[in-house]
Amino acid sequence: MSQDRTLNNAELLSVLDWYRAAGVDLAMGEDPVDRFAQKPPAASAAIARPAPAPTAAPVATGPVGGDPSEARRLAGSAGSLEQLQAILGDYDGCGLKLRATQLVFADGNPDARIMLIGEAPGAEEDRQGKPFVGRSGQLLDRMLGAIGLDRTQVYIANTVPWRPPGNRTPTPEEMELCLPFLHRQVELVAPKLVLTLGGPAMQTVFNTTAGIIKMRGKWQDVRIGTHEVHAMPTLHPAYLLRNPAAKQQAWKDMLSLRLEAEGLGLL
Ligand code: URA
Repeated sequence: MSQDRTLNNAELLSVLDWYRAAGVDLAMGEDPVDRFAQKPPAASAAIARPAPAPTAAPVATGPVGGDPSEARRLAGSAGSLEQLQAILGDYDGCGLKLRATQLVFADGNPDARIMLIGEAPGAEEDRQGKPFVGRSGQLLDRMLGAIGLDRTQVYIANTVPWRPPGNRTPTPEEMELCLPFLHRQVELVAPKLVLTLGGPAMQTVFNTTAGIIKMRGKWQDVRIGTHEVHAMPTLHPAYLLRNPAAKQQAWKDMLSLRLEAEGLGLL
């Protein structure tokens, strides 16, 4: 059924809510553009004609296509976590920043010997500026609590520090730009144990295309940046919320983390 009338405020707000829930969080322009109706410019004409003068304000596409070597240089210049956070706060190379509310750098204890690495901030993390504070964060707290740990005994970060629009997985380009900062963060924290949460974080940290179900629960020695560390992937709490039966496997992994930490004299 189509209605040919102007929407009232309550209806407009619910349309906005619907867009937000669907992951639309950036207004690109005042008027819709039907790009399917546009004809591609003829190649020869495009070469012959002088560049048109700019008309409307540019659409906020942002600084996409940053330079990974610049990201590496900047990350490498940080001598402390505070400096790294400040550098990331000023860094405009990754387009994710443009659509995020704020930087989500880390939570927990920077002196902790156990580091947890998730994928990317979600909506609640984006609002609060801290990793794992939404529903999956609450489950993560319970998982830590089940082995006698809390956030004062671990340090928590993500592979990318800005929320991808609509919680999509970061693109390989975004990952490449953010990875030097994660590497530096790990070097500066210098944890003895790393737990990665979920498939994308595992693939990034272990530099593998293997699946999480096959890899979870297995300890490996990996180099993250220049830091060599004992690391294990486990399932992401968000996955456990959707698949409660998998909590049994996550529980085994958490026990393994506890035993490994005790074995190293960390607890
Ligand atoms: N999921 C993540 O991977 N990281 C967060 O910070 C929150 C949810």
